[in-house]
Amino acid sequence: MRPPSPLRRFLRVLREDLEAARHRDPAARNGFEVALIYPGLHAVWAYRLTHRMWREPALRLPARIIAQVARAATGVEIHPGAKIGRRLFIDHGMGVVIGETAVVGDDVLLFHGSTLGGRSMKRGKRHPTLGDRVVVGAGAKILGPVWVGDDVQVGANAVVVKDVPAGSVAVGVPARNRVPEPVVPPAEPAEDPSLLIEYVI
Ligand SMILES: CC(C)(COP(=O)(O)OP(=O)(O)OC[C@H]1O[C@@H](n2cnc3c(N)ncnc32)[C@H](O)[C@@H]1OP(=O)(O)O)[C@@H](O)C(=O)NCCC(=O)NCCS
Repeated sequence: MRPPSPLRRFLRVLREDLEAARHRDPAARNGFEVALIYPGLHAVWAYRLTHRMWREPALRLPARIIAQVARAATGVEIHPGAKIGRRLFIDHGMGVVIGETAVVGDDVLLFHGSTLGGRSMKRGKRHPTLGDRVVVGAGAKILGPVWVGDDVQVGANAVVVKDVPAGSVAVGVPARNRVPEPVVPPAEPAEDPSLLIEYVI
């Protein structure tokens, strides 16, 4: 079987983004409505286009212009150079910023007002890296080249400036990490010592 053409692959990615928005927002009624009125989805779609353009040096300026038009329309600013995985959902849209060197895993959820920003003006890696299935609460800021592991939940309005281990919850300013207790399997039931004594006698 022939592999799908680049256009088909691109359209499949856009469709996945739509499905992610539909499934993750309990208020979503159907795909048509989501495609029409969800600014977070429109911003991700615009990014999918501008990121492809970004790979071609001659298209970098038009890519940034389109990104700014998308920002004006959606309130979400995603730099075309950011690396974003599949099925990103930006709920409510407004006020989200994703910087140039940010990396975002698959199935990530960002609420409005969240920022994946830098702490220095130096060139090079200066934005966060998020694992898969990370949830970033409304108004949260993740700053600098920090690493946020898989399945992390960042609380609303938290300011994350240090790495966050996978599976933990980060809340507060600066954010403190609440790492979940490891699940310990129940111990084998102990043998009744009286049975042993009887046997010995
Ligand atoms: C951080 C969050 C994921 C924690 O959820 P949780 O695992 O159910 O944890 P709990 O609600 O049991 O809270 C755990 C502790 O963190 C505190 N906490 C929870 N969210 C917090 C926040 N955003 N900022 C500061 N502290 C917070 C709780 O008070 C509690 O403190 P305690 O242990 O001293 O009592 C959740 O509270 C949150 O902020 N989600 C973002 C949701 C969002 O942005 N929604 C926008 C919808 S429009």
